[in-house]
Amino acid sequence: MKVNQAEIVISAVSEKQYPQEQYPEFALAGRSNVGKSSLINKLINRKNLARTSSKPGKTQTLNFYLINESLYFVDVPGYGYAQVSKKERAKWGGMMEEYFKNREPLRAVILITDLRHEPTTDDVQMYDYLKFFELPVIVIGTKLDKIPKTKKDKHIKRSKKVLEIDPDDIFIPFSAETGEGKDAVWGAIKSFIAE
Ligand code: GTP
Ligand code: MG
Repeated sequence: MKVNQAEIVISAVSEKQYPQEQYPEFALAGRSNVGKSSLINKLINRKNLARTSSKPGKTQTLNFYLINESLYFVDVPGYGYAQVSKKERAKWGGMMEEYFKNREPLRAVILITDLRHEPTTDDVQMYDYLKFFELPVIVIGTKLDKIPKTKKDKHIKRSKKVLEIDPDDIFIPFSAETGEGKDAVWGAIKSFIAE
């Protein structure tokens, strides 16, 4: 996909602020610091439109990015960051539920896991949570550049197994460093957009 236009439309903390136009929407979910914002930037060929950081917890709101006046990416705050108070965690939970439960234009969730490691308990919970809302999930195994080529298949197999990934859901190995897997991610996104 050739991206000519990408802009942040709103950083929302509640439903009232979500954009009104009904473009197909794709949300990014994953652990803090796993690479959600980096994946958005890579997909749209921008260095830092979605702000990234080596410190976890950079993204704190639901950030809606409008792409080519035709779809939205929603960057979502990460989970599983230990240094978060109970109160913060509850706020996060409320914000997630409000969004995932009844966001009509949401076509699929892009769940990002770190391909180097087994999906964490939080990853498995997030996947199950999304399936509870009957949302299609595109699972991304990111940081592929950090894995020796000979181990790639083993890591993919392990991730799918630990998540007990639904046969209808897609798993894509990806690297925001090298761009490997980028076309496959766009292909998966397009498969959820009616012509
Ligand atoms: P939060 O907003 O805090 O939840 O984090 P995030 O998931 O948006 O992560 P972010 O994109 O900010 O990336 C976190 C760190 O991981 C940054 O230092 C990135 O450069 C690095 N990173 C992300 N993707 C990759 C990748 O594919 N390969 C490598 N080697 N590093 C990556
Ligand atoms: Mg982020």
